Amino acid sequence: MFKDKNFNYAVFGNPIDHSKSPAIHNFFSNQTGVFHTYGSINVPLNKFSSIILDFFKHNGKGANITAPFKQEAYCISHELTERAKIAQSVNTLKKTDKGYILGDNTDGIGLLSDLIRLDFIKKKYSVLILGAGGAARGILFPLLSFGCSIFIMNRTLSNTKKLIKQFNRYGKINIFNKDILKYKIFDLIINATSQSLEEENSIIDLSLISSNTCIYDMNYKKNKKSFLNTFVHVKSTKFSNGIGMLVFQAAHSFELWHNVFPETDKIINILKAE
Ligand code: ATR
Repeated sequence: MFKDKNFNYAVFGNPIDHSKSPAIHNFFSNQTGVFHTYGSINVPLNKFSSIILDFFKHNGKGANITAPFKQEAYCISHELTERAKIAQSVNTLKKTDKGYILGDNTDGIGLLSDLIRLDFIKKKYSVLILGAGGAARGILFPLLSFGCSIFIMNRTLSNTKKLIKQFNRYGKINIFNKDILKYKIFDLIINATSQSLEEENSIIDLSLISSNTCIYDMNYKKNKKSFLNTFVHVKSTKFSNGIGMLVFQAAHSFELWHNVFPETDKIINILKAE
């Protein structure tokens, strides 16, 4: 499949049509002067490992992996970075000089970089994470290492418990129970569910928000109601969608491949304006 393709970096997922990764990486390439060609591959659901191995056997030097293949990417990696091992999920692959496939996870550091840029995070912040799936798993280690206290709220309690058992060795992490913590207000609320906060039936409990609470939705979707509409009835003005995280996880991947960290502000502003 990849014998005659002329790109050596690509994003793999299903669906992939609306991926912004090629645009972001082409921007980084132009801006840094590091030449790379970057494509996008829609992978049939049962074909991930054969397609990715074929890519690295031919022109492939690096890949970004998106839903629903991050766990499979973790399994096919020959070597793993520490953060990928802890997240048990891989969003970046690199062919090493020895020909091995190295798996990394830049999602968590991507989120943390964006939260720092936005001034949404401080050590000791009390953080509520909505969701206990793969997206939540990818961000917990960097947030706990930063020094935040984390509470998890999720539709299915057993998934929350599993996540807490996996991560409680790295810092303060608990289930959020509104009946016990009745008047708890959070410094930061992160939506890590697959349900966007921008959709009509918001899953966020407005009583947990004060005018100082930062709200970050890891989702970003076009043509949805704006955050302003969603939160107009609470006083919080500090909210962001996940465009910045998307750009920063790409920047950290770019650095893994090319040892150069690209400039991020300009492309974040371009994508946010779209
Ligand atoms: P991802 O890899 O994107 O995190 P996932 O592992 O399927 O995807 O996890 C999706 C998360 O969104 C889960 O926490 C899920 O809750 P459950 O554990 O109860 O399944 C949550 N989620 C999805 N749709 C939701 C909805 N409509 N309301 C609340 N939570 C939802």
